[in-house]
Amino acid sequence: MENELIIPDGSGKEEIYAALIPQIVALTETEEDLVANLANVSAALFQTFGFLWVGFYLVKNNQLVLGPFQGPVACTRIQYGKGVCGTSWQRAQRIVVPDVEAFPGHIACCSKSKSEIVVPVIQNNEVVAVLDIDSCEYGTFDETDNKYLSQVCDILTDKF
Ligand code: SME
Repeated sequence: MENELIIPDGSGKEEIYAALIPQIVALTETEEDLVANLANVSAALFQTFGFLWVGFYLVKNNQLVLGPFQGPVACTRIQYGKGVCGTSWQRAQRIVVPDVEAFPGHIACCSKSKSEIVVPVIQNNEVVAVLDIDSCEYGTFDETDNKYLSQVCDILTDKF
């Protein structure tokens, strides 16, 4: 089937990301439509890792607005500097949250979420969106996720 993901069995996180990144490039390189690309990238990460929630919030009229995602329904708008997503936008920095309850101002869209990572998509020195991923377990995300999810966001920058 066209666009079917091939994920190596029994591999570690590093190997799985290393196999996934070229497939994300292939999925997106010939498609210009932003929503189509964000939808497929959300699905690829969700399907590969079985995270609780994977999706994008897009900067629109000085707010973050919910974009394509996979997982439970989520809050639709996040203000600048609020929650993990709004803080990542404000700082233009990736944020790894090992325990969401320990992050001041964390916005709980789903009570099952225990840890989270947010990576900004930056175009011409401006944050245009954030990639947000939630896990049902504490401490899911580390430097490996940071590294590869930043590559994912870099791949998408030109699509905005
Ligand atoms: N937890 C996020 C809100 C978005 S949901 O997790 C999908 C935050 O604190 O910004």
